[in-house]
Amino acid sequence: MATLGTGSSPSAVASMTDPLTLIDVDHVRFFVGNAKQSAHFYAYAFGFQVDQISDLTTGNRESAQYLLTQGNIRLILETPLSAAHPAASEMKLHGDGIKDIAFTVFDAERAWECAIKNGGHCAYEPRTTRDAGGTVTMAGIQTYGRVVHSFVSRTGSYDLPKIKQGSILAPGFRKVEGYGLNAFNLKHPCGLKFVDHCVGNVELGKMNEWVKWYEDVMGFKMFKHFDDKDIGTDFSALMSKVMASGNQLIKMPINEPAEGKRKSQIQEYLDWHNLTPGIQHLALRTDDELTSVAELRNRGVDFLEIPEAYYETVWKRVNAMLTSHGHSAVKEDHERVRDLGILVDSDDEGYLLQLFTKPLQDRPTLFFEIICRRGSQSFGKGNFKALFEALEDEQGRRGNL
Ligand code: FE2
Repeated sequence: MATLGTGSSPSAVASMTDPLTLIDVDHVRFFVGNAKQSAHFYAYAFGFQVDQISDLTTGNRESAQYLLTQGNIRLILETPLSAAHPAASEMKLHGDGIKDIAFTVFDAERAWECAIKNGGHCAYEPRTTRDAGGTVTMAGIQTYGRVVHSFVSRTGSYDLPKIKQGSILAPGFRKVEGYGLNAFNLKHPCGLKFVDHCVGNVELGKMNEWVKWYEDVMGFKMFKHFDDKDIGTDFSALMSKVMASGNQLIKMPINEPAEGKRKSQIQEYLDWHNLTPGIQHLALRTDDELTSVAELRNRGVDFLEIPEAYYETVWKRVNAMLTSHGHSAVKEDHERVRDLGILVDSDDEGYLLQLFTKPLQDRPTLFFEIICRRGSQSFGKGNFKALFEALEDEQGRRGNL
């Protein structure tokens, strides 16, 4: 079993009686068909540092893994090196996508045991890798569809604060030296700070089952919910419940399709994901939506096109809500927001700016959201209608309506 890292705090000790206390998103693992090329895509398009690698050159004969970092975001892009690797058959079914949303905890083995006792299914048993630097213990449980949650606990030089400062992620990784894009990205930052939320799509009628699973197994609580009256157009709709960890650091909305005259975007995702639930989008937080979106657009990121008509009503809707709750109006330049095609929404606590990329691979499955919060802890409910109309235009162009 892993021991607590250096400087065990009172909260660390308290966590021993609440082992599922999630400290952070440790990393997000993607299964991809060609990690070398994907690393280049995510580094160039989104400004990630290609920081570390584990592959044949480090003695890893199973897979190649690239660690990409930006702010407190850590993506691992993994590709199998043989047909025997589980990622090989999985990608045949689902294409590139997210396999694991991994959480840092104080004690991975205890967190995993607790989750199993609460009804979770084992994805893999606790395993510890160690070297002179310290240890990394990981254990996984299966959530919806192809997705796993790993619990990760770290000691020594592998402690999370050290990882955030650029320390090696785990035994078997090495730093990537001389990657040309890294210097370019430091000079032209995209400003992405951390994972704001991770959204899953599940089948029709299954949302409440998974809500209960997150409550029972993970100790999450419902944070917000939306139904098809909130998130629908005349044609298609979805239902969504946002689950949050006890400390509200981790938010995992769960979507299911709702009946509409045409196919829901959630159903389209499932159809192209071998009728299997999975992660629909990863929302990445920025402090400055305009600068981030402008930089990402310069780099060629494809965002959803927002209908011009959206900007005819948005300011009245958003600013009326803000002033009625004693908040000042949206401070960002309204014209630049429109020129950059950014979405805005407000609630009683403040406002948010957000924008969704188009799918990140050829299958209409996983995409990113770029989000900036100015007080609002919501998810852009008021934008769903506008967003759905834009999404349906896209879906129509793909012949999937
Ligand atoms: Fe989102």
